[in-house]
Amino acid sequence: MKIAITGASGKTGFRITEEALKKGIKVNQIVRKNSKVTENLKNTKTYRLSIDNKYELDKALEDVDALIIATGARASLDLTGPARVDALGVYRQLQSCKRVGLKRVILVSSLCTGKLFHPLNLFGLILIWKKIGENFLKNQIFDWTIIRPGGLKEIEKIESENIEYTKEDTQFKGSIPRRLVAKCCIDSLTNKQSINKIIEVTSSSDNKKVSFKKALQSI
Ligand SMILES: NC(=O)c1ccc[n+]([C@@H]2O[C@H](COP(=O)([O-])OP(=O)(O)OC[C@H]3O[C@@H](n4cnc5c(N)ncnc54)[C@H](OP(=O)(O)O)[C@@H]3O)[C@@H](O)[C@H]2O)c1
Repeated sequence: MKIAITGASGKTGFRITEEALKKGIKVNQIVRKNSKVTENLKNTKTYRLSIDNKYELDKALEDVDALIIATGARASLDLTGPARVDALGVYRQLQSCKRVGLKRVILVSSLCTGKLFHPLNLFGLILIWKKIGENFLKNQIFDWTIIRPGGLKEIEKIESENIEYTKEDTQFKGSIPRRLVAKCCIDSLTNKQSINKIIEVTSSSDNKKVSFKKALQSI
């Protein structure tokens, strides 16, 4: 299997690449012209492009079996970021998928998308634009999966963290290490039962350990 990962220079993106490589999946990392690629992934195939450039993006997606979208507006004073990246940016990536006939797409979104009254919306109404991005993906053209994590954590000590997987609009708080989100993306790739599902994920040492496969049965 060969996949493309956009936002591969991000803190979740690079971990998705690492988790894919661990499973023997080939990866096209898709990053911006000036993005910093993690040192250990410098030898992994990397396309440097703007997601607004449809010709370059089509080329990077041409021969892959799935796309994992891990782009997201970086916190900044420019409040148009969420509209440009989390809605329009997702739309452009999906248009490219359609042009090259790529059906399988996994999107890293967020808990609480679509909520208007939420402090995160102080950053350019991000939860509204993320919902719009999700809606572009949720149609029959795609075999889609949306992963909605809680607050993302940088910790790599994940042994005691167990994931709570639930269906859409059931979790409204909590957090999860980015490493576990990356693993969820790769688990989704390899489990057909995740297709056409929104999966909300948080983690805690208080949760019971459940396998991804088992959790999908009730989502
Ligand atoms: N932070 C949280 O607590 C939280 C909670 C739930 C969900 N999320 C979502 O989870 C996802 C991953 O978050 P993260 O914190 O791991 O990401 P991150 O480290 O902020 O990385 C964001 C990625 O998106 C890329 N990007 C930003 N603007 C872009 C543009 N205009 N065109 C192309 N690529 C662009 C960045 O590229 P550069 O490296 O070039 O900047 C980077 O690769 C995001 O969608 C985020 O909104 C975050």
